[in-house]
Amino acid sequence: MFSRIISPRNVKSAQGVLRHFSLSAQRDARVAVLGASGGIGQPLSLLLKENPRVTELALYDVVNTPGVAADLSHISTKAKVTAFSGEKELKHAVKDAEIVLIPAGVPRKPGMTRDDLFNTNAGIVRDLAKVCAKICPDAMLCIITNPVNSTVPIASEVYKQEGVYNHKKIFGVTTLDVVRSNTFIAEAKGLDVNQVYCPVVGGHSGVTIVPLISQCTPPVSFPAEEREKLTRRIQNAGTEVVEAKAGGGSATLSMAYAAARFANSLMEAMSGESGIVECAYVFSGDADTKYFSTPLLLGPNGVAKNLGLSQINEYEHDLVKEAIPELESNVQKGEDFIHKDD
Ligand SMILES: NC(=O)c1ccc[n+]([C@@H]2O[C@H](COP(=O)([O-])OP(=O)(O)OC[C@H]3O[C@@H](n4cnc5c(N)ncnc54)[C@H](O)[C@@H]3O)[C@@H](O)[C@H]2O)c1
Repeated sequence: MFSRIISPRNVKSAQGVLRHFSLSAQRDARVAVLGASGGIGQPLSLLLKENPRVTELALYDVVNTPGVAADLSHISTKAKVTAFSGEKELKHAVKDAEIVLIPAGVPRKPGMTRDDLFNTNAGIVRDLAKVCAKICPDAMLCIITNPVNSTVPIASEVYKQEGVYNHKKIFGVTTLDVVRSNTFIAEAKGLDVNQVYCPVVGGHSGVTIVPLISQCTPPVSFPAEEREKLTRRIQNAGTEVVEAKAGGGSATLSMAYAAARFANSLMEAMSGESGIVECAYVFSGDADTKYFSTPLLLGPNGVAKNLGLSQINEYEHDLVKEAIPELESNVQKGEDFIHKDD
C-alpha cells in the first residue's frame, strides 16, 4: 500500500532527483500523534499502524485515546500502540518520539476561513509544542492544525523560547495540496494519477496555495482560462469538502492519507534513502516571507536542502505575489501570539 502512496514522488527521479535505497531502509520509527481521536487522527493512526516502518505508535488526545488504541492494537502489524489522555500524560506520549504529527484542534465549518480557527487552535499548538520542545526537541514536528500559515510560526517561536529551535525539523504539512493537484490534473488530462506530480508552494490557505502546474511531471498545459479554473479549484478544494460535509468538519480521510504519505517520506529519509522530496511549509530564510512551502529534499536530519521555486512562469509569479501579503500577515499573527506578553 505504501508503495502506492509514495509513487508520485518517484516521478521526481525523472526530474533528476535520484532515489537510492540504502541498507538501512527498514530502520524502525517511533511516531506520536497528538489529536489522535479526531477526524484526521483516527485514520492517520490507522495508516501509520499499517506502515511497516513504524514500531511504536503513541496516541495522545484530550479524549478517547484508550478506545482508539485498543481498537488499533488488534491489527496484526508490527507497531506497538499506546494511549495517553489529558495534559499530564502528554510528556509520556512524546517521550522518545522521532516524529510527532499534530492534528489536534478544531476544523472549519461552512463559511469559515482557516484563519477563523486561530483563536482556538493557536493555544492548542503552543501548548503541545512547549511539551515537545522540552521532551523530544529532536523529533520531526509535523503540524497539520490550521491555520498552518500561523501555527508553524507559533511552534517555531516556542522552540526558540525553549532554546531548542531547529528549523530543519519543523514542518507545516501541505501534502494534501499536492495530492489534490495530482488528482485534479490526472482527471483533467486522463493520466494515470500515480505518474502525476505537481509541486505546490506558498502556504496552506486560499490564495497562498500556489500550484506550479508548469513544473508538473509529466508536462501538461492548459488554455489560460482552464488553468485559472484549475488553480482556483486547488486553492479552494478544502472549502469544497467543508461545504459537502455541511457542518460535519473538513477534510479528514484525504488529509490522513496525505499526512501518512508525508510521515512515510520522513521515515524513508531518516533511514538514509536519498532523493526523497516533499513540499512542506517551513522556515525559508531567503524567500520574500519568512515561511514558505517549497519542494524540500529530506534527509536523516529533516530538511537537507530547500529546492526553492525553480523556474516559474509569469502566471505563477503573479500567484506568488498575490500570496505574499497574506502569508506575511499570517506569520506575523502567529509570532505576535507568542510574544504578546513580552
Ligand atoms: N494541513 C491540512 O492540510 C489540513 C487539512 C484538513 C484539516 N486540517 C486541520 O486539522 C485539524 C484537525 O481536524 P479534524 O478534522 O481532525 O478535527 P476533529 O475535531 O475531528 O479532531 C481534533 C481532535 O483534536 C483533539 N484535541 C483538541 N484539543 C486538543 C489538545 N489540546 N490536545 C490534544 N488533542 C486535542 C480533539 O479532542 C479531537 O479529537 C483542524 O485544525 C483542521 O483545520 C488541516
